[in-house]
Amino acid sequence: MSEKDRPAETTLETIVEGHVTSDTVSPEDCLLESPPDPCTIVIIGASGDLTSRKLIPSVYNLFTNNGLPDPFLIVGCARSEISTDEFRVKLRSSAEESGHDMKRWSEFEPRLHYLPISYDSEGSYLELANFLRDLEKDVDTAGNRIFYLSLPMFLYKITAQLLGSAGLSAENVGGNGWSRIVVEKPYGSDRASAADLDRSIHENFNESQIFRIDHYLAKETVQNILMFRFANAIFEPIWNRNFIDHVDIIAAETLGVEKRAGYYEKEGVLRDMFQNHMMQLLALTAMEPPNDFESDAVHNEKVKVFGALQPFPTDNVYGNLVLGQYGHGTVGDTKVQSYREEEGVDATSLTPTFAMMRVFVDNMRWQGVPFYLTSGKRLGAKLTEIVIRFRETPHSMFRDILGDDISGNILTMGIQPEEHISLKFQTKSPGAKVCLRTVTMDFNYQQGYDGPTLAAYEKALLDCMNGDQMLFWRQDGIDLTWKFLEPVLEECEGCSDRDERLKTYDAGSWGPVEAAELKKLLTMTR
Ligand code: BG6
Repeated sequence: MSEKDRPAETTLETIVEGHVTSDTVSPEDCLLESPPDPCTIVIIGASGDLTSRKLIPSVYNLFTNNGLPDPFLIVGCARSEISTDEFRVKLRSSAEESGHDMKRWSEFEPRLHYLPISYDSEGSYLELANFLRDLEKDVDTAGNRIFYLSLPMFLYKITAQLLGSAGLSAENVGGNGWSRIVVEKPYGSDRASAADLDRSIHENFNESQIFRIDHYLAKETVQNILMFRFANAIFEPIWNRNFIDHVDIIAAETLGVEKRAGYYEKEGVLRDMFQNHMMQLLALTAMEPPNDFESDAVHNEKVKVFGALQPFPTDNVYGNLVLGQYGHGTVGDTKVQSYREEEGVDATSLTPTFAMMRVFVDNMRWQGVPFYLTSGKRLGAKLTEIVIRFRETPHSMFRDILGDDISGNILTMGIQPEEHISLKFQTKSPGAKVCLRTVTMDFNYQQGYDGPTLAAYEKALLDCMNGDQMLFWRQDGIDLTWKFLEPVLEECEGCSDRDERLKTYDAGSWGPVEAAELKKLLTMTR
């Protein structure tokens, strides 16, 4: 034993438990790495909801937690002809409305600037380049810039191209430092459009400059999946087809389509949630341990999972998939209208707002283990979780007394709203008679931790400033997930009985009854 590992004194703990690692770092030490390089965040499409609801609050929180570089600037660009002062007033009132602590807002506000632009005008981007250079004369950000595209997808290509022709994508020349572009999903609407989009962004930005954001990846509990699986030696040996019966991945929302009908009508739940967030949750659950905890190594393992997805049986799509659309109903105490009655939605819309799909990963670890992916809007509760259902005991010595009904263990990784990990197992019920009861051992993520946390967009922005692409998509993953989903979409959208296949469910319920029936049938007949 080295001097370093030798216990300072003999205690009950060192005798009983030997070497135990304990928390040696304070919560504040874990919150942030060293501040990133000084930079300017340019939000293109800054008049949208995302800016006031997510981006500015995230940057402000980073600022109040001392997580931002010094100096930094934010430049909002959009079509509205407003001044920087008006932009600041607008953002201040939305921050106030959403209950932010405004104590340090007056220090933060001077860093916000605004420039009206026309998204498809070359002149606008030349003007932006001059605007940035002028601002950077007084505030030395070393010309480092993030261009955050908060725009409808059809504007991504032209924006990337015009940023390039205005000289804004070039790095370390003409007063530029590093230059990064952040694109939000959807990354295309099928395989070809995703590839086309990527090709055109690559005309001006190279791969290390492109950050394809998926906010699910930056959620604390989603990041924790890899820690949980690979920093604990006891789970890996049972994390496979020999011990696991099936896996449920659920992302349920109570929200409806809100004000996004224009986008959602075209996308539906398969493009909106499955091609991205659900696939990432699946990959994190199913992937092999990477050699290093490093961006490319992690991406390589995820891509192997996407590549191993068993092609969806297109001759029997609905034997493995249920699509639904919400009708009216009650969510919590509130009566809500049906999807077709929502503002901007076609009264005969066939866009699915719910899907349950059975997926297999064709490799040694997972052969024959079904993954049930379920996501929907206007369901009974907001709930995202991954549930690992273990096989039942191979031989029950209690069969004569208790029959066959001893359920397998269940491990749940709760992503939101409750961030927890729980394990269900059987124990003896107290008393003379032999009875079993299922009990739950529960770890709440905030347990024993009262320090500050980083919301998903805060972590994503910080990683982008640090140039770390681990929690972003890589294009080969996007390509493979489209390759898997495209035949399903073609089949569902092209079939003649599309309307019969779309099952209506009551808002506030847990989806169409057909989903529960299919799940039961599939789990029973395996
Ligand atoms: C977005 C989808 O990516 O994720 C939305 O476009 C969905 O439709 C949202 O509501 C869900 O995110 P979260 O973090 O609330 O689970």
